[in-house]
Formats: sequence, structure tokens, C-alpha cells
Amino acid sequence: MALPSVLHPFAVPSRPAEDYLEIVRAEGCRIWDAAGRSYLDGTASLWYCAAGHGRREIIDAICAQLGELDAFHTFARFTNPPEQRLAELILELEPIPEARVLFTCGGSEAIDSAIKLIRAGHKAAGEGGRTVFLSRHYAYHGVMLGGTSAAGLPANRDPFGTLLPDFYQVDRDSLDAMRDAVAYHGADRIAAIMAEPVIGAGGVFPPPEGYLQGLRELCDECGALLVFDEVITGFGRLGSWFGSSHYGVTPDAITFAKAVTSGYQPLGGVIVGSRLREWLEADPSYMLTHGNTYGGHPTCCAAGVANIELMRSEDLPARAASAGAHLRAGLDRLAGHAGVAEVRGEGLMQAIGLNAPLTAGVFTEALLEHGVIGRALGYANSVAFSPPLIISEEEVDELVAATGTVLDELS
Ligand SMILES: Cc1ncc(COP(=O)(O)O)c(C=O)c1O
Repeated sequence: MALPSVLHPFAVPSRPAEDYLEIVRAEGCRIWDAAGRSYLDGTASLWYCAAGHGRREIIDAICAQLGELDAFHTFARFTNPPEQRLAELILELEPIPEARVLFTCGGSEAIDSAIKLIRAGHKAAGEGGRTVFLSRHYAYHGVMLGGTSAAGLPANRDPFGTLLPDFYQVDRDSLDAMRDAVAYHGADRIAAIMAEPVIGAGGVFPPPEGYLQGLRELCDECGALLVFDEVITGFGRLGSWFGSSHYGVTPDAITFAKAVTSGYQPLGGVIVGSRLREWLEADPSYMLTHGNTYGGHPTCCAAGVANIELMRSEDLPARAASAGAHLRAGLDRLAGHAGVAEVRGEGLMQAIGLNAPLTAGVFTEALLEHGVIGRALGYANSVAFSPPLIISEEEVDELVAATGTVLDELS
């Protein structure tokens, strides 16, 4: 059996070519395969397609930008109107006061950029001994070496040998465990604590009451920075523009990607708050020796500008809140089923935890047969639903009905 020419990410490399599902078209909350079958996009692709597929406003903005200035780098003194406008638009959403934005090409680069900026910042502030990063079990922080070292999912760490020193993970929900880790490694050695406001790929786990505020207080006590990885939660998914505003906790830096363009172009970045900014800006001769060739790419940023303007005009965070409540109510109605261990989530980021012998992988394959895409999160044996924020109540009902049918079929 022939293998595909593409070596697929997060896939079994020995899987034969005919096993792959070729996606050829998308519109709204639906996608179509090459055989003409349609599926409800219950995951907004990989959490990112907030505005839904096929939005003319975003497509036209990308085409117009390509005709004006296709690409030019932003190193040193170069800039372009879309990158400036996008940074302004992001800051208008008030994720962190008095911040600036560094652009990358995606979430993983955003995480590793944040790690480097923070280490460089502490060093510039005369505290180069602050190199320790604390993160959480079940965390997913992308796939570069820094993010892999910060990850709390063994399957994503173990194959890759020795990771970076000074990265440690602690119990997902325990402030005491984080406090103990700070004491153990030394308060004056902690560079930052990094957390997804709602853990995503690790199983969709909202924070316990007061947890994020507790991290803020702990960082303030020990002089470390607080980083929220908002690659999933940024730009509306929880029902607020950011997880920081949703939970009322202001971090020192935010990493973002995905829904900033609804995925129409690859883009990510770091929102850098005032403390870190001041360290980097204090010395006029200081040179920031970090950045990506395509960071601030005008066409990607034009997609971001059009996407955020559209999301604002349609108030998509509010729609995420109402559609999320409807989805949650539907999933809660399935909670009595023997196969369901738990329903959990926030806004349009929901999951059902499954009881053995049901497995998330088999479950999502069966769901696909019923024309609905869910995401298997194997580590927590859970199926995640994170549809576009424009999803209608009828489409949510369709998703929930298919989930119920699969529960009956597999039990
Ligand atoms: C919380 C979080 N951080 C970082 C990343 C990495 O982003 P990317 O896949 O764009 O590199 C992801 C991707 O899903 C994510 O969920």
C-alpha cells in the first residue's frame, strides 16, 4: 500500500494514502470532501475558524493586499500599514494595558518568542538568573523546543530526547503545587509561569475558581512574569475577546494565533505588557535579536484586520457565549448516558469526557460517519467541540444529536 508524499503532522507515518480524507471546499460551518460528502465543522478546523469559512470580507482583503504589497519583511526599520493597523486593533480589544505586539507566523513561534523575550527581558533588567519556567500538567504550548519543554503532555515530549533545562510542570489545578515549585526552585530564579486560561488540547479543562488570580498573586510575590497562552482562547472563543478579560486577570504577556485571522492566513504573536516592555526599551542601544522572516507579513495582517473588523461588527464573542450556552445545555442532556464521564468547558470550547471502554479516537471516527467533526483528545479520553463562533442553534442541535446517536451506537 502506497504512503502519501506528505508526512502528516500528529499522524501515523505508516498510514496508507487511501486512508486520508481529502477536504476540498468549505462554507460557513460546513466542509466537503472530494467525494462530495459534507461535514459539520464542529471544531472550527483546529480551534481557529472563528468567523466561519468562506467569508468574502476576509478573502477580498487578502486579495486586495496581495495586489498592493504582497510581502515585505519587517526587520529593523521596515513596517507596513496592515501590521500597524492589526497591532492597534488587537490593543483596542484591551488584552493588557499599554502593551505592544510582536508578530509571528503561528502559535508555536509565539510561545518560543515569549520564552525568549522573557529571558532576554529579565537579563536586560539585571536578573539573568531568572531562567525557570513553570507550567502545568496537561498543558499544550505548541511544538517548538521551548513549547515542547513547557508542555505537560508526555506523548508530546517523550519522543524528543533531552528538552530545555529549567522547564518544570506541576499539577494542573493546584495553586499549592505551583507555590511549592516556586519555593523549591527559588523565587529569584523563576522567569515566568505559563498557563492556558482554559487547557485545550490536554482535554478542555477550565481553571478552578480563583486559580488564575492565584497565579497572578504568586507571580507578583516572587517577581516572575505571568504568561497566558491564548492561542485557543484569544479572540472570542470563551465569550469574551480574551481569557484574560473573561477571568478578570491581567497577565504580563499573552501568546495568540489561530482566530486572529480565523485561519485564513497563518499568523500569531505575543502581546507584551508594560513590565517586559520597559526592560526591553530602557536602554536605547539594546538590540532585540529575535524575529521571524514572515512576522508582520502584510497579507497575513490584512487577513487579521478584516477578520477582527468582521468579528467586531457581528459581535462574535457574544455569539460564542450564547451558542456556547446552547451547546453546553445540549451536551449536559447527554450527561446521564453511561458512556459520558463528564461534560466540561467554557463558551464555545466544550468537551465530553468518555468512560471506558469508549475511546475518543473510535468515537470521533463514528461521529465523522454521521457527518460531524469532533476532536479526539486522547490524553483525557475526551471529545472536544469548538465550532465557528457563527454556528446556528440548528447546527448545534445537529452536532448534539449526532453525538447522542454515536453514544447509543457504541454503548
Ligand atoms: C494553547 C496552544 N498553544 C500553542 C499552540 C501552537 O500553535 P500552532 O499550531 O499555530 O503552532 C496551540 C495549537 O493548538 C495551542 O492550542
